Amino acid sequence: MSKKTFVKILSVVLALVLGMTALWACGGEKEDENVLVMATNASFPPYEYKEGDSFAGIDVEIATLIAEKLGMTLKIEDVEFGSIIGGVQSGKFDMGMAGMTVTDERLEMVNFSSTYATGVQVVIVAEGSTITSLDDLKDDGSMKYGVQQDTTGDIYASDTPEKGGYGSDNVIRYKTGAEAVQALKAGKVDAVIIDNEPAKSFVAANEGLRILDAEWAVEDYAICVAKDNTDLLDKINTALAELEAEGKVQAIIDKYIKA
Ligand code: ARG
Repeated sequence: MSKKTFVKILSVVLALVLGMTALWACGGEKEDENVLVMATNASFPPYEYKEGDSFAGIDVEIATLIAEKLGMTLKIEDVEFGSIIGGVQSGKFDMGMAGMTVTDERLEMVNFSSTYATGVQVVIVAEGSTITSLDDLKDDGSMKYGVQQDTTGDIYASDTPEKGGYGSDNVIRYKTGAEAVQALKAGKVDAVIIDNEPAKSFVAANEGLRILDAEWAVEDYAICVAKDNTDLLDKINTALAELEAEGKVQAIIDKYIKA
């Protein structure tokens, strides 16, 4: 083989290798773009919880369908509830979906999608407790309240009595609602303030507890997205509206919440 031919072959081979590398790199990039990263706190049945190694629940199923409509693959990150908003703000997560209540304070930090469910804060007490109505909940230091930290139950209960709370000193914060419920069973707190559907599952799974027949606060759940990511917010809202029109959101809710 002449030197010229050799150089020609070599350059063709090099060009091929380069081309394939470029293609492969592009493919990799595309794959990343097609992942929708959802931050949640998966100890909140029936909205999100772990079933062995996988995630289940209303939010998980709705998010899966949203990702499908967006032509993306859903990736779930299970984090502390209180770090969802910061992670969404910094771009670590694309969205936060965790039975998350829309509040004015949170709206200053993130945007919310249209709401897909209603939540009610309720009060769990031990069966036979002297607390039988919301009026029995005292702010004089004689009662302790268990909450999941950074949730609206925590925020409202920790507020001053003038603002309808019981004072921060009377609130004990736990990493999960389940831990707050264990504290109630152990007599470390007098009541747990938490969203109604998780409350029902916790009471069903633990003997000796009951939910007061009263609404402590009524709230809307929505998906949060970074303020500057209006493109994703629009896409999520469009997908949600379609899923609602198709009856799919209600079907998922009905699957997990029996009337
Ligand atoms: N709705 C309440 C809030 O937004 C509690 C949500 C807790 N969610 C969870 N996945 N642990 O503050």
